Amino acid sequence: MKEMVLVSGGAGYIGSHTAVELINAGYDVVVADNLSNSDMSGVEGVRKITSVDVPFVNVDCCDKEAFRKVFEQYNFNSVIHFAAFKAVGESVADPMKYYRNNLVSFMNVLDLMREFGRPNIVFSSSATVYGEADQLPVTEQTPRKPATSAYGNTKQMCEDILRDTVNAYEGLKGISLRYFNPIGAHPSALIGELPRGVPQNLVPFITQTAAGIRECLSVFGDDYDTPDGSCLRDYIDVVDLAKAHVVAITRMIEDKNKAKYEIFNIGTGNGVSVLELVNSFEKVNELKLNYKIAPRRPGDVVAIWADTSLANEELGWKAERSLDDTLRSAWSWEKNVRGIK
Ligand code: NAD
Ligand code: WQD
Repeated sequence: MKEMVLVSGGAGYIGSHTAVELINAGYDVVVADNLSNSDMSGVEGVRKITSVDVPFVNVDCCDKEAFRKVFEQYNFNSVIHFAAFKAVGESVADPMKYYRNNLVSFMNVLDLMREFGRPNIVFSSSATVYGEADQLPVTEQTPRKPATSAYGNTKQMCEDILRDTVNAYEGLKGISLRYFNPIGAHPSALIGELPRGVPQNLVPFITQTAAGIRECLSVFGDDYDTPDGSCLRDYIDVVDLAKAHVVAITRMIEDKNKAKYEIFNIGTGNGVSVLELVNSFEKVNELKLNYKIAPRRPGDVVAIWADTSLANEELGWKAERSLDDTLRSAWSWEKNVRGIK
């Protein structure tokens, strides 16, 4: 019998790509999502790409009684918990919304896993936990900095909750994956990132500008202490990121984890500037992007990229897709969504 994995938040951007890669790797998948930041197109895309009628449950993970029914109905040993709100700015303006959703949903998952004896969990953490790091690239040992947003704080708190919970309770183990900047879309262009309202992240803003939905991209700052003056980030392809979840889950199922709780950086290991990324996007997609240099965005870290040796060595995982291919996929997805030829 195939192993089943519960993907909470699986209708969203990273969850839908992960569902595809889990199925490609031979797992059964059940998706649980309340569609608070997604719609059924993600699940339908997964079904189309894989030709599998993936089961979907519309449930709020914060509603424990409703969520319990998913545990009663489906016999999974492993959970990948994507379900969370993720808009940094909104979390500063409305912190309780973020603490309630991100913490309660996560504690419910852990409680129900204990109650039903389900052993393995992967948690979606973020490079945001490092803040402005003193040394680059960052390793998993690099000290976390105090969070500057409620969103970032929920990631730190959930990491700590997971560590304490798996260390205290027999039969539970967990992995936090610290994603750097996920970008791009599935090569089929059937699933991708679908931001609601004005995109806050760079690549969706670029693709919407190229599509004519936004007039002009603002590059936030060109006077930083970096080679071209714009900020440096580690942009990780979403399909590569999805595959990291598959190897993390498999590691726990096969009992190859070295500790009950482990943390891995998931990035490419390369720092890319905003201007480099804009230029690459223009080049590979053979178009001109309307952009201007704008003031720095408050709260931005200047530069961060990952040391990925631990994931390379322990998980046997490495980012594979080139930045050019990822930027092509991002544009193909945007064109597909907008009906642009
Ligand atoms: P997303 O918004 O596309 O996906 C999250 C999904 O969770 C959505 O489909 C949403 O409807 C669902 N959801 C939210 N709260 C829920 C709840 N209470 N019950 C059920 N479903 C709920 O976001 P994403 O980019 O796919 O991010 C997935 C995870 O990865 C999040 O935890 C996010 O914080 C984390 N992460 C994202 C990034 C990024 O830049 N995209 C970077 C680092 C970490
Ligand atoms: C990337 C670079 C901007 C938009 C955020 C979260 C982080 C994580 C990933 C979840 C920066 C610049 C952006 C624009 C620009 N999410 N930029 N013009 O800020 O690195 O990380 O998403 O965990 O927690 O903070 O990503 O895509 O917003 O920005 O110049 O219109 O692009 O200044 O240098 P960021 P981003």
